[in-house]
Amino acid sequence: MPRPVEQETVGNLLDRATRQLRQAGLDSPRLDARVLLGKAMQCDPSSLLPGSAKPVSSSQVARFATLIQGRLARRPVSHLTGHREFYGREFTVTPDVLDPRPDSECVVELALQQMESSAAPQVLDLGTGTGCLLLTLLAECPQAQGLGVDLSTAALAVAKANAIALKLQDRASFAQGEWLSGITERFDLIISNPPYIRSGDIRGLAPEVRCHEPHLALDGGQDGLTPYRILLPQLATHLKAEGVAILEHGQGQEVSIALLAEQSGLEIIATATDLGGINRGVALKSAPCVKKALGNDVGTP
Ligand SMILES: C[S@@+](CC[C@H](N)C(=O)[O-])C[C@H]1O[C@@H](n2cnc3c(N)ncnc32)[C@H](O)[C@@H]1O
Repeated sequence: MPRPVEQETVGNLLDRATRQLRQAGLDSPRLDARVLLGKAMQCDPSSLLPGSAKPVSSSQVARFATLIQGRLARRPVSHLTGHREFYGREFTVTPDVLDPRPDSECVVELALQQMESSAAPQVLDLGTGTGCLLLTLLAECPQAQGLGVDLSTAALAVAKANAIALKLQDRASFAQGEWLSGITERFDLIISNPPYIRSGDIRGLAPEVRCHEPHLALDGGQDGLTPYRILLPQLATHLKAEGVAILEHGQGQEVSIALLAEQSGLEIIATATDLGGINRGVALKSAPCVKKALGNDVGTP
């Protein structure tokens, strides 16, 4: 008599996968196991409780095993599920884009505060990646319109798909390009989260980042500040009279950025700190003398 095949359960699968991921040294083995089982079973992970006797079909077990193998190979959870939540919305994530970071949400908050005074702001997002910054601002501010620029055409394809999924395609456009080159318009708000990791530090990053995220999105040059040296001197000529630029930056870069901003005729009007209390962003305006020199000191163009 063939023995009946034992039915896998949610509780057993979660326990086994959690043990495997923990032994491999991963930071959040239980959470990862739960999220990936949710993906395999196409259900909300929060409904999958430890110890649950809920049966899991053999095809779901096979899908889960493949996902766990991917995680053991240090593929990011967002690459395995194909999405990431940012500021309460789902964004498609692929290996062509930076996985949106919770740290960037404080930069969105800073931008939203600055947008309050503008009725229908024109927004420019430099290095848009998934489009998470631009699309969040457009979703939160229904009169805003925006342009997302990226050097990577593959990233732009992801951003466009996210705009469609969030029903923002009528207010968001995208262009391939090198930062501000070729852009002649002026904007109410320019936002950017440029790559800011020092080239030499990349080899010390977690394998999920070092091996699976695009280096174009990470590498900020020898001291991590190369993109800021390109961007900051060009901001004043791309902002409207009362326009504001919001830049995310890495831990400990605020003093260098303040110096570069001053040299570029910009003044810091506000800063943002992330949930860990680390300085993450600055809001910048043209200094009054620069506005005057640019003929930009009265009204809005
Ligand atoms: C740190 S990621 C930020 C992505 C997204 N804005 C976010 O906050 O998650 C930096 C982005 O800048 C883009 N990038 C890098 N160099 C660039 C350049 N020279 N011109 C335009 N975009 C560039 C990368 O492709 C990447 O999408």
